[in-house]
Amino acid sequence: YNIVVLISGNGSNLQAIIDNCVNGVIKNSCIAAVISNKADAYGLQRAQLANIETASIAVSDYANHQDYDQALIKKIDAYQPDVIVLAGFMRILSSEFVNHYQGKMLNIHPSLLPKYAGLNTHQRAIDAGDSEHGTSVHFVTEELDGGPVILQAKVPIFTTDSVDDVIDRVQRQEHSIYPLVIQWLLSQRLSMQNGSAVLDGNQL
Ligand code: GRF
Repeated sequence: YNIVVLISGNGSNLQAIIDNCVNGVIKNSCIAAVISNKADAYGLQRAQLANIETASIAVSDYANHQDYDQALIKKIDAYQPDVIVLAGFMRILSSEFVNHYQGKMLNIHPSLLPKYAGLNTHQRAIDAGDSEHGTSVHFVTEELDGGPVILQAKVPIFTTDSVDDVIDRVQRQEHSIYPLVIQWLLSQRLSMQNGSAVLDGNQL
């Protein structure tokens, strides 16, 4: 199977996916390409080190959002992906883009959705005095961070934590749950049906 990963930055989740394709948690699959909207995303270097094709498509090269998304679709579809993985891709996607990949596109969001859609989730959880935080893998739909949740991991927040402590704790969980969900989708155990995530015939 073919995976295309979209990134904007560090790419630690990308690294986890690369590693899990090698160690066999993700089976019979490889990452066909890593595409970034930022030319200096460190994740592009991770991909190159793993001999994965990379591309960066700059937003500034396109007149508008729609033209950009069209170019992105064209680039992605050239790889005939079975799944499109958003891994720290910091861009709001048009409905046209989202609908094109309905049921085939995953995102990971660093909160226990439906709590804290949007940015600065870790700081917001700390500021709210939450003792628990986490991360969610979900199908991408038109609603920002609002698609059906597939799998979440919880972590504690301790009163002595800095925001970086919390980010680290959440990211460690991300690196184990995201590859699992990708394998579920590729092996057809997981699908999106009528706006819900379904795993092994059970609605999640
Ligand atoms: C992750 O924490 C993910 O939840 C969020 O962006 C971050 C990306 O980190 N969507 P990385 O680039 O994978 O290290």
